[in-house]
Amino acid sequence: MNQVLASQYNYKVVRQLTIMTVVWGVVGMLVGVFIAAQLAWPELGMGIPWLSYGRLRPLHTNAVIFAFGGTALIATSFYVVQRTSGVRLFSDKLAAFVFWGWQLVIVGAAISLPLGFTQGKEYAELEWPIDILITLVWVAYAIVFFGTLYKRKVSHIYVANWFFGAFILTIALLHIVNNISIPVDVMKSYSAYAGVQDAMIQWWYGHNAVGFFLTTSFLGMMYYFIPKQAGRPIYSYRLSIVHFWALIFTYMWAGPHHLHYTALPDWAQSVGMVFSLILLAPSWGGMINGMMTLSGAWNKLRHDPILRFLIVALSFYGMSTFEGPMMSIKTVNALSHYTDWTVGHVHAGALGWVGFITMGSLYYLIPRLFGKTEMHSKKLIEVHFWTATIGVVLYIASMWIAGVMQGLMWRAVNADGTLTYTFVESVKATFPYYVIRFSGGALYLFGMLCMAYNTFKTIAGATAVNPQIPAQHDAAHAPAHAAA
Ligand code: HEM
Ligand code: HEM
Repeated sequence: MNQVLASQYNYKVVRQLTIMTVVWGVVGMLVGVFIAAQLAWPELGMGIPWLSYGRLRPLHTNAVIFAFGGTALIATSFYVVQRTSGVRLFSDKLAAFVFWGWQLVIVGAAISLPLGFTQGKEYAELEWPIDILITLVWVAYAIVFFGTLYKRKVSHIYVANWFFGAFILTIALLHIVNNISIPVDVMKSYSAYAGVQDAMIQWWYGHNAVGFFLTTSFLGMMYYFIPKQAGRPIYSYRLSIVHFWALIFTYMWAGPHHLHYTALPDWAQSVGMVFSLILLAPSWGGMINGMMTLSGAWNKLRHDPILRFLIVALSFYGMSTFEGPMMSIKTVNALSHYTDWTVGHVHAGALGWVGFITMGSLYYLIPRLFGKTEMHSKKLIEVHFWTATIGVVLYIASMWIAGVMQGLMWRAVNADGTLTYTFVESVKATFPYYVIRFSGGALYLFGMLCMAYNTFKTIAGATAVNPQIPAQHDAAHAPAHAAA
């Protein structure tokens, strides 16, 4: 009996994390929709400081990236590392600490950001006490993840774990280096860096937060859940390894593309541009690898909305990793920077890639965690898929048009050298696009609410499962089974 218990996976922490992913998804997107409405109708904040745009915007980015995305990543990586290693998590206590600690970080963010406490660094706004808590939780996360890999019963380390592992190590490095600061009181600190060094460190962090928090890690999800849902081995295991090394090597150098035409030395800007262009190749290698996993089984897309989420995610990944390198070209960036084109690019990646791959993976995971064969309603998954798809398209198309329009208006000059348009004219011209973006966001949020309801109905009355490790645990992932 003891042996049976000892051989069970730790699904409890995965269940907790999965449910909180759905909760934070709703919260983060709700704030997103609210700030989208504020950009169209600025008086919505009613003069209340903690409802002001400047405080709610970082609340949105932190909630969607770290609360929704982060919780989803910890959930799926804990699931995948157990399933592909054939062992229980390294330590249940530490895993529980990771869950509760991470939720505490999120609550800390949700309180301190609206109150106006901030380091003023994008995606690293949280003040030093919360940063220290993040560090502790992250170290515990690394110990649980790598400890589980260490005691694995399968000699091979499945590729999804490589992606999750790189994400964990890199985020630790980025977080610590970018947040070195001198505290002056309990909720205020000053960065240890100054001037252009501060800017470079910040965007080395910022870009790699995109590269590792929003990309590499979600590729880990992709490499497990697409083969699983499609019922086929990954198209090319060899390509997945090339993809991994090329991607992590290239991402690190691309940060300066956020600082074009600034005081950063010109050569550094060019290095950022060149590496961003190179980045297209590994990104598309990964996308093609995921897509081709379906070759010969494309018909499954017609009946399986979960697979559709996963594959459409890859299309958006392909789209944003084509757009990004183009935007990193200095002459293109001269037009796109400061405009809503950047925001459109961000959400092609965030809503289309990060959102869709997470939702697809969670729809796969939830019934399995709660002893059900499938989600409560397939129809609702369909509704979610279509509202989310239409929502993303409205969001990014409106932002592209608005962005290019703004860029062109700002640079237009009359024959005598004066500006053709005042800034406020460009703001007025953007209004309709902000309304369209708001409706796209509201649709996307509606889809997320469908998911929350569907999840609630699926788990209500379900018995949580703590399976024994099957002898053939996830054998489909062993490289011997994969077409190289
Ligand atoms: C209902 C869904 C969403 C809506 C309506 C929404 C709306 C917004 C708005 C209005 C902004 C501010 C844009 C500006 O300052 O001009 C923003 C920024 C941002 N959002 Fe969202 N968002 C949504 C979902 C997400 C998700 C799921 C993610 C990530 C996974 C995300 C990541 C970001 C990021 C990184 C920024 C900062 C962009 C930048 O600095 O260029 N958003 N969002
Ligand atoms: C090959 C891959 C990619 C490259 C080369 C790339 C390049 C770029 C460039 C040039 C910018 C504009 C910088 C500026 O003008 O300020 C940008 C912004 C951004 N990209 Fe990408 N991108 C890529 C993929 C992605 C993906 C997959 C996401 C995912 C979610 C993403 C998220 C973002 C975010 C959040 C920003 C806004 C940063 C900020 O200003 O706050 N990118 N990217």
